[in-house]
Amino acid sequence: MGNDLKSVLITKEEIDAKLAELAGRIDRDYQGRDLLIVGVLKGAVMVMADLARAVSTPVTMDWMAVSSYGSGTRSSGVVRILKDLDTDIAGRHVLVVEDIIDSGLTLSWLLTNLGSRGPASLAVCTLLRKPEAAQVDIDVAYVGFDIPNEFVVGYGLDFAEKYRNLPFVGTLAPHVYGG
Ligand code: XMP
Ligand code: MG
Repeated sequence: MGNDLKSVLITKEEIDAKLAELAGRIDRDYQGRDLLIVGVLKGAVMVMADLARAVSTPVTMDWMAVSSYGSGTRSSGVVRILKDLDTDIAGRHVLVVEDIIDSGLTLSWLLTNLGSRGPASLAVCTLLRKPEAAQVDIDVAYVGFDIPNEFVVGYGLDFAEKYRNLPFVGTLAPHVYGG
């Protein structure tokens, strides 16, 4: 891991086991239904890829890219759609798949936006959540891990576009972000 990471927070094995558990719950909850999973680019790429292969439910996959106006690592809740869905979600069962819920502002905006399109159901699955950072209350059906309020990278999550390809979730050493 070089000297850039302070510690491994969640190992690949722990991620695999957790996604298998969440996939089992999703299979039970969506039994007999047609499920569309929506990944939020770019962070959710790894979770989407692994979760989609862990479920037995037939799923279709679509992607959105949003950008949150704000400085640095802070979210503002003012969101712009960079890439919209290819799919019309009216009448569909939609599960939004996220890498991390931090303040929750981005996701809150996204849920309002998607909800206005008339899906049959709308739920959220996130690998990580920072309870101490929450600024809005969001009902999240599937949570992988509640983590401390620290900046994390790996498994899709980046710092300045780096570290997304790490197979685990880690915390950065202070010198990497100028500490
Ligand atoms: P909010 O605060 O709106 O966060 O829930 C939205 C997006 O911010 C990114 N984010 C992080 N990215 N490590 C990262 O690499 C983190 O600790 C972190 N916290 C938030 C992420 O893209 C999330 O979807
Ligand atoms: Mg994200």
